Amino acid sequence: MQKSAPSSPRIESEGVNQMFSGIADRYDRANRCLSLGIDVYWRSRTVRRVKQANPQRVIDFATGSGDIALALRKKLSPQTEVIGMDFCEPMLDEARKKAKGIEGISFRTGDCLDLPLEDNFIDACTIGFGLRNFEDREAGLREMLRVLRPGGCLLVLEFSQPFALLRPFYYFYLNKVLPKIAGRITGDVQAYQYLGGTIGSFPDRAELSQQILASGFDRVSATPLTGGIVALHQAWKGE
Ligand SMILES: C[S@@+](CC[C@H](N)C(=O)[O-])C[C@H]1O[C@@H](n2cnc3c(N)ncnc32)[C@H](O)[C@@H]1O
Repeated sequence: MQKSAPSSPRIESEGVNQMFSGIADRYDRANRCLSLGIDVYWRSRTVRRVKQANPQRVIDFATGSGDIALALRKKLSPQTEVIGMDFCEPMLDEARKKAKGIEGISFRTGDCLDLPLEDNFIDACTIGFGLRNFEDREAGLREMLRVLRPGGCLLVLEFSQPFALLRPFYYFYLNKVLPKIAGRITGDVQAYQYLGGTIGSFPDRAELSQQILASGFDRVSATPLTGGIVALHQAWKGE
């Protein structure tokens, strides 16, 4: 039980889309400042796992401004097709600007709760800080499972519940400090109060692993990063 964790906010796709549209051009700057640059390391750990899977086609879902998709493009073989997908056009515009002139990567519009993709279409997929924002987490997990080929894997990079000793400091930062700093950078304090709320109410590693299995994945592993502030879940579709 985290006494200082904020209550769970109601998540609706339309509101999420509007919120990210409003901060899209300041999203990267806020990320770097608020995580003190550690987010780059978290994404690189995710990409390393994908590289081990050696996929021919990989999609980064809820790609936002495209950082994971671009890191995948950089680290994977040139033969691998990399796609970033999101439903928020202004975030995709930022991603497309960053990808200008880079071959083998494309950004497409799509709702992760109803993916515009055929079954068994990809070998691997990633989702970074996106699952928390889904209106229906189980529907999103089931959709990602559907479009993965048998034996393919999903990497979920997401905020989690930190180790007990860190919690009081972490939640103080999340609830009191972060919205003020983020408000200055993005001009939208509410968006970052929402962030604190969604993080505080998000399942811990064991619970998220259970939810992933319950949605139909065959196996799952969970790795805590940075004192458990973030976790990397890897899940496989059965052969
Ligand atoms: C916190 S951002 C993460 C962006 C990026 N993955 C990163 O690592 O910085 C969350 C993203 O999830 C997207 N998102 C939320 N729900 C979605 C849905 N149902 N379908 C597609 N994108 C969604 C939002 O538009 C937003 O770009």
